[in-house]
Amino acid sequence: MNLTTTDSVRALHARHVLTPWSAQRSLDMPVIERGDGCWLYDDAGKRYLDLSAGLVAVNLGHAHPGLARAIADQAATLAYVAPSFPTTVRAEVARELAALAPWPEGARTFFTTGGGEANEDAVKMARLVTGRHKILTAYRSFHGSAPGAGTLSGENRRWPNEPGLPGVVHFVTPFPYRSPFHTTNPAEETRRALDHLDFVLTYEDPQRVAAILLEPVVGSNGVVVYPPGYLAGVRERCTRHGILLVFDEVMTGFGRTGAAFAWRRLGVVPDVITFAKGVTSAYVPLGGVLLRESLAAYFDDHVLGCGHTYSGHPVAMAAARAALHAYREEGLYERGREIEGWMHELAEELRRESPLVGDVRGIGAFFAIELVRNRSTREPLVPWQGPTAGVMPTLLRALRDRGVYVFARYNVLLVTPPLVISRDDLAFGMHEIGQALRDLPGAGT
Ligand SMILES: Cc1ncc(COP(=O)(O)O)c(C=O)c1O
Repeated sequence: MNLTTTDSVRALHARHVLTPWSAQRSLDMPVIERGDGCWLYDDAGKRYLDLSAGLVAVNLGHAHPGLARAIADQAATLAYVAPSFPTTVRAEVARELAALAPWPEGARTFFTTGGGEANEDAVKMARLVTGRHKILTAYRSFHGSAPGAGTLSGENRRWPNEPGLPGVVHFVTPFPYRSPFHTTNPAEETRRALDHLDFVLTYEDPQRVAAILLEPVVGSNGVVVYPPGYLAGVRERCTRHGILLVFDEVMTGFGRTGAAFAWRRLGVVPDVITFAKGVTSAYVPLGGVLLRESLAAYFDDHVLGCGHTYSGHPVAMAAARAALHAYREEGLYERGREIEGWMHELAEELRRESPLVGDVRGIGAFFAIELVRNRSTREPLVPWQGPTAGVMPTLLRALRDRGVYVFARYNVLLVTPPLVISRDDLAFGMHEIGQALRDLPGAGT
């Protein structure tokens, strides 16, 4: 069948494809045919600024020639071989990841197909190494969709998995803009949040806790940068109780925070890092678990009870090798710091333009715009519950009409562009957000 019109592609899609996290009848997205740098093009030639790098993943931008070539070459040479065979490309990617890891002792990587799978394998490894079974994760977190990773997640995307994986306990982490600890001072927020963690550890028994798994900067739940001292406090408790600290760097990795990984930007060293998304700039699905050598060595004499057909898939490895090369050669690991400066300037303008902008926060090229009905009460523009609701679909549609794609959850827009974005393109995107908010019917007080 030859599809020519947008309507016929949409109809065929609706008939045969199930789209994630959506009531299927609500879908109204354009048909995207190609990408170039920070821009996506639909089948009518209209262009959209990809202000969220897809799902915070296309860090190198679209149609990077080096990546496309590397993928094609690898597919023509060796598209697949069982993970048990050593291959050059897999060894080279793992060596480069070890060089980005924080541990002088060295590191090894177990490769997966995505981020959720990496978190599930990290949990399994932590349980095997420590002989303990409990896993602590945060409310207001996302770690993946399948039942294991879904149980780790601390928000409504967990609910369809319930009752879920036994042994997962959630705790409350700091959030200065909407303090769950009733503070207005970041130092006090950190202190109370660590007291709360001590309480949870006491009542769960720290000797039964294998790992604390955290996003070092909260991602799709609103880009929350923890106040100073919090992650260091979590690190200290992990060390004291023999608990492994796992950083889920699926979103924060590969330049997103202005460093190769967030641990470096934030100065806190975990024991395990999970990653995905930016490792191939999302060109090919890939994730992994990066383990410090002292943990990896455990599996020299004990069976590593994890495995996937696509673990270390050669085409994904070729994409990763080319992506890691591009980040390094194009200076993109640090580029987020420049984007952060632009965002602070542009956020000021946006705040002046629209009273619906409650908070603009972030680090590197990882920002959230939190929308409110009223700036003084901070009442969210739509409730933090249930599917995307209220005026948000109208706002997102208006943005698309204006040529901007933004990934949103509830009352939060994620401004997380490809790291190659120019200041002009970023300013265009922020300006259009301001204009779309100005025209939004029935919002605000
Ligand atoms: C922090 C974090 N962890 C894990 C995941 C899940 O990764 P994947 O969708 O590749 O399974 C995501 C996805 O957005 C994420 O943001």
